[in-house]
Amino acid sequence: MDTSEMFQPYDRLVEIEILGERRMVPENNSLLRCLQFLSIESISYGDFCWNGTCIECQVWLKQGDKEKGVIACRTTVAEGMRIVRLAKAIDLAEPTGQLGVSD
Ligand code: FES
Repeated sequence: MDTSEMFQPYDRLVEIEILGERRMVPENNSLLRCLQFLSIESISYGDFCWNGTCIECQVWLKQGDKEKGVIACRTTVAEGMRIVRLAKAIDLAEPTGQLGVSD
């Protein structure tokens, strides 16, 4: 799969946390693109509208001691974001591994 046109231009990866795991994802991109970066097949072929209408891409961010649901295709990633829950349609069971893992 050619991914060169898939992502917004970025100079660096930023660290976020997904379900307790630290991952490196491309800045300047939506959270859904970042999830796609980590799991290219499952997100690319998932049932997503990519335009804010289906809500299949909802994720919940931890903000202080609260959780806030956001639409991943409409939310730009920011360093340090903590995703604590994912909508059922988001399948990261087969991450591409090497790209996003941070140790
Ligand atoms: S992919 Fe449909 S609302 Fe985000």
